[in-house]
Amino acid sequence: MSVASEAVTDALRELHTRFAGLGDGQLADHIPQLALADPDAFGLALFSMEGHSYSTGDAGATFTMQSVSKPFVYALALAVLGLDEVGRWVNAEPSGEAFNAISLEPVTGRPDNAMVNAGAIVTTALIPDTPGAPRFGRILDCLSRFAGRQLDVDEQVYASEAVTGDRNRALAYLIRSAGPLPVDPVAAVETYFRQCAVRVTTLDLAAMAATLAHGGVNPLTGDAVVPEPVAAQVLAVMATCGMYDASGDWLLRVGLPAKSGVSGGLIASGPARFGLATYSPLLDPTGTSVRGRAALGALSERLGLHLMHNPALAGSTVTLITTADDLPSARTGPRALARHERVAVVAAQGALDFTAAERVLYALDESRPQETGSVVLDLRQVTDIDSVARAMLRRGLGRLVEGGVRTAVADPAGRLAPLPCAGEQDEAALRPFASREEAMTWCASGLAG
Ligand code: DON
Repeated sequence: MSVASEAVTDALRELHTRFAGLGDGQLADHIPQLALADPDAFGLALFSMEGHSYSTGDAGATFTMQSVSKPFVYALALAVLGLDEVGRWVNAEPSGEAFNAISLEPVTGRPDNAMVNAGAIVTTALIPDTPGAPRFGRILDCLSRFAGRQLDVDEQVYASEAVTGDRNRALAYLIRSAGPLPVDPVAAVETYFRQCAVRVTTLDLAAMAATLAHGGVNPLTGDAVVPEPVAAQVLAVMATCGMYDASGDWLLRVGLPAKSGVSGGLIASGPARFGLATYSPLLDPTGTSVRGRAALGALSERLGLHLMHNPALAGSTVTLITTADDLPSARTGPRALARHERVAVVAAQGALDFTAAERVLYALDESRPQETGSVVLDLRQVTDIDSVARAMLRRGLGRLVEGGVRTAVADPAGRLAPLPCAGEQDEAALRPFASREEAMTWCASGLAG
């Protein structure tokens, strides 16, 4: 076993051992087939953003998705129709009510959000249904791509809900009676039952949660299932509405976008970090797995996964603010030293976004380039610069040049390029050098010695 596997699997095993004995809760019985589940079943799985998977317990056992399907079908609707169009028919406000409540806006009949049954039925109804691409075919294909393998339907569970699902049918009739929907929610209820009966394992769910966390790209297959903005929108609604009337408490205590289902599945996504899933069919009164809730809560606390904790400490972006004379490479002779002393140097590392770019610009100010007359920004250890950070850095460097500071960037990977240069001064600011030494020498050579 690899060391990574040992460390992560051990953490999951510990949770399994700790909570396997928890016998509280009830099996769902409003869909009679779900009451036949093994109450002792308990699986946990985690998928990394690199597609590495870790699991323990009954992570390979199959069960139906139920409400865990809702965020993924919502993602499909958003990808096809866009947020504004979907938002006309399904709101994005926490209902604070049970999953099967009549959570409809007065007058319009618009459901509160896509995570409660009413909103999920409308979401399913919004998925296009054409002879070449029937609605359920599109949904199953999308769910399969999220999981990274072809999924199928548990026909017995589907049939069981089709017989007993009158409350959902009643909700659909109520929505149709109130709202000017462009689609028929009554017809869509049967498709909604089928999507709820799609069969998965805990590992599948972890891959699906990881795909949302990974900007809509399945980390296992590399398949871009939905655009990145859609993945972010779905995670936002999971964070505020995914746990129904327990959503606020969940976000407070566990701090991760999540979705539960009455078969006992539970997913949580750590944006850009991981996808987590548990399976255990004993449910609390909100329809959430008792062991799943306990395990994810403990894991979040133990590993510091709460979304509102910010592990990106300021020190992690800027690694150096100095003048070049402090650097061994500058000591090449008395004359060179005198010049190099007047070259300020700032080095950064990692992925640069808005926050990181602010740190780098602040560090550039702190390095007092106006006094030294010259500054080198060393980006050799930078792994990525997003468009916002790139524009900020280019503007900041351009300002320095305008202020008469001789400015050079050590940027062998050309990460500040290939944006078009605005003008001559900008061009000078963005002159990329392969090494810090070359950048320093260029800066020093322009200073009066
Ligand atoms: O509509 C229903 O009642 C089920 N097919 C799904 C409900 C569900 O999973 C609620 N989540 N915890």
